[in-house]
Amino acid sequence: MVQREQWGTRMGFILAAVGSAVGLGNIWRFPYMVADNGGGIFFLVYLFALLTAGIPIMILEFGIGHKYRGGAPLSFAKMNRKFEWLGWSQVIVCFFIAVYYVVVIAWALSYFYHSFSLGYAGDPAGFFFGNVLGLTDGPFELGGIQTQLLIPLAIAWAVNFFAIYTGVKGGIERLAKILIPTLFIMVVIIALRGSTLPGSAAGLNFMFDPDFSRLFDFKVWTAAYGQIFFDLSICFAIMITYSSYLPKRSDITSNAFTTCLTNCGFSLLAGIAVFSILGHMAFTQGVAVNDVAGAGVGLAFVTFPAAIATLGSVAPLFGMLFFLALALAGITSLISINEAAIAALMDKLALDRKVVTVIYTAVAASCSLLIATGAGLYILDIVDHFTNNFGIVFGGLIQVLLVGWFFKLKSLQDHINSVSDIKAGSWWVFSIKIITPLVAGYTGIMTLISDIKVPYENYPQEALLVMGWLVLAVIVVGGFLVSRLKWKDKEVLLIEGVRDNDR
Ligand code: ALA
Repeated sequence: MVQREQWGTRMGFILAAVGSAVGLGNIWRFPYMVADNGGGIFFLVYLFALLTAGIPIMILEFGIGHKYRGGAPLSFAKMNRKFEWLGWSQVIVCFFIAVYYVVVIAWALSYFYHSFSLGYAGDPAGFFFGNVLGLTDGPFELGGIQTQLLIPLAIAWAVNFFAIYTGVKGGIERLAKILIPTLFIMVVIIALRGSTLPGSAAGLNFMFDPDFSRLFDFKVWTAAYGQIFFDLSICFAIMITYSSYLPKRSDITSNAFTTCLTNCGFSLLAGIAVFSILGHMAFTQGVAVNDVAGAGVGLAFVTFPAAIATLGSVAPLFGMLFFLALALAGITSLISINEAAIAALMDKLALDRKVVTVIYTAVAASCSLLIATGAGLYILDIVDHFTNNFGIVFGGLIQVLLVGWFFKLKSLQDHINSVSDIKAGSWWVFSIKIITPLVAGYTGIMTLISDIKVPYENYPQEALLVMGWLVLAVIVVGGFLVSRLKWKDKEVLLIEGVRDNDR
């Protein structure tokens, strides 16, 4: 039995966890979530979600990983063998997300390259949908692989592969130590320049001005909770895995607070960078920010390139900065998503990291080619909607219900408090047992009802069936099936972890 790997330093762990949290979710998803969900009101609900779900679940997951020392399936199995399936379901969610996430990084790398000549400035929509995506007329019309995406896709997979292959300390931690500070500096530069441009104030007003009429709109709540889970990399195996590499003496709660607050600070910074520049574009065109901002996933790849083009001689530089930042943020998250799956397989099959990494990467990289076809955006959109709003939200709901109500939460709380300066007190228990289940349950069910009544984005039913509902079925049934398979080395269930004597 080999020793479990460990992070080299506390700072290394925090940077890797922040690297996982800070990702496309902060730069690509957060601004358009704000724009689509009532501006500042979304931000308020998001802060509420951070306090009642984000931070408490981060503490919970750091506690689970630290106490049970395993990837998600192993940790859940050590808690109670009946919980193992949930870990596998979360791992399958990771796999589906990795397969489309890497393609968005490839788009960003491709835009980085085209920023030299501002190739996208003339006709941003035509460039994105035509040149980059080669978008077809529907999700089943694949239209072939977009060959110009192959090099950026290969780069993204290669960086991911070498980081994971080289191991927790030598690969993942070392890369995070370089990339995360670089990323912060880049985004600060964009935010500083953006917020001093004429018209930027209108963009920031749009972001922060709360539209109170949407306070009770369940869509805003669903978006905010979904965003918190995705954004913080919680409820889909990642943070349990990362904290399983913590040394015994590690402060759980302060690590969780640091990770969450740094991540949300970064989202804010990215939001300021994006909205101030959008405000400037609206100003130069003499229109309202509203008219330029609400562009769904196209915000980063259509609207923003157009906005960059209004920056004059520094436009190429800012284009490169923005898209490189997007790609770097994405890469460190992609690594964590894949590490969660790879660690789980290593635990279960008692195989060497290198072997699992090679096989896993080959399979996942091949599947990602599907998203690099002309139907990629449709497939991505459907899979993203279902994995986030149902896979992650319901996975999170089941996680807090199982751990909060059907497991001695007290033993976990005692463990966390025995190593932490800030104590997880009754507010923590209340959030895990009551608030998160209520809000996640309510928003999840409302979205489910709404999706059953009206097909998501009016996609053809067959497409939703195959790329949405079937994906969900694979997540649930697959989780159960894999959990039935035997552990190659049963010892792993007994040793290393701090055993729960109260069970
Ligand atoms: N937490 C990662 C992100 O925000 C997955 O993109």
